[in-house]
Amino acid sequence: MSTINSELQNKLKKAAAVKAADYVKDGMIVGLGSGSTVTMLVDELGRRVQEDGLNFTGVSTSISTAKQAESLGIKISDLDSIDTIDLTIDGADQVDSDFNGIKGGGGNLFWEKIVAANSKKLIWIVDQSKIVDRIGAFPLAVDVEPFGSHHVLKKFSDAGFNPVVRTDKNGKIFKTDSNNIILDLHLHKINDPDKLSNALINTVGVVEHGLFLNAVNEVVVGKEGAPQIMINSK
Ligand code: 5RP
Repeated sequence: MSTINSELQNKLKKAAAVKAADYVKDGMIVGLGSGSTVTMLVDELGRRVQEDGLNFTGVSTSISTAKQAESLGIKISDLDSIDTIDLTIDGADQVDSDFNGIKGGGGNLFWEKIVAANSKKLIWIVDQSKIVDRIGAFPLAVDVEPFGSHHVLKKFSDAGFNPVVRTDKNGKIFKTDSNNIILDLHLHKINDPDKLSNALINTVGVVEHGLFLNAVNEVVVGKEGAPQIMINSK
């Protein structure tokens, strides 16, 4: 992962977010992801709703995105109240050239995955520092049911996954919007993402994990110059 300063990173995130806002058209049902890049997207979509009369319905992947969107005049519908989502736009923590990604830096990976799984198209918005040869340097978030989670932690430790219970800025155990906990796996590199994905999801107590394997259709990458679009031909 190339390092860039946070001012440039924010500029590139914003460029990707504004570019991706062009994908949202009148009448669409749009999944809205979570994180700082999506916050910039939602700001831009809110501006278009208010100034250009853009008319779409959002389905949020977190309570915070829903609150932000509604405060800007974007209609939000519940995932269970709609049949299908036309398009979801979300952020990511790392993406490789096989379109495998790590998500969950903000802890919203479960809602993000279920919204993505019910979308016709998935787009990620990232800055250039998140494009990597091989995913794994970013800690992999695993959403775990609190009941029995000590045993899940032990299984992950025994497997050499270096799990750490996520805490919030006050040092309290972080809770997801579904009231689950997050175990961050410090893996450094992931040699076989499919094998790891299967091992994690087959561990009793795991609700979901932050590996999104070949699930994304397009990645809008904020780059110096202009955003670049990576298209996954699958
Ligand atoms: C939250 C996520 C985010 O989309 C991911 O962490 C990217 O965040 P940011 O745009 O703040 O860099 O997966 O669970």
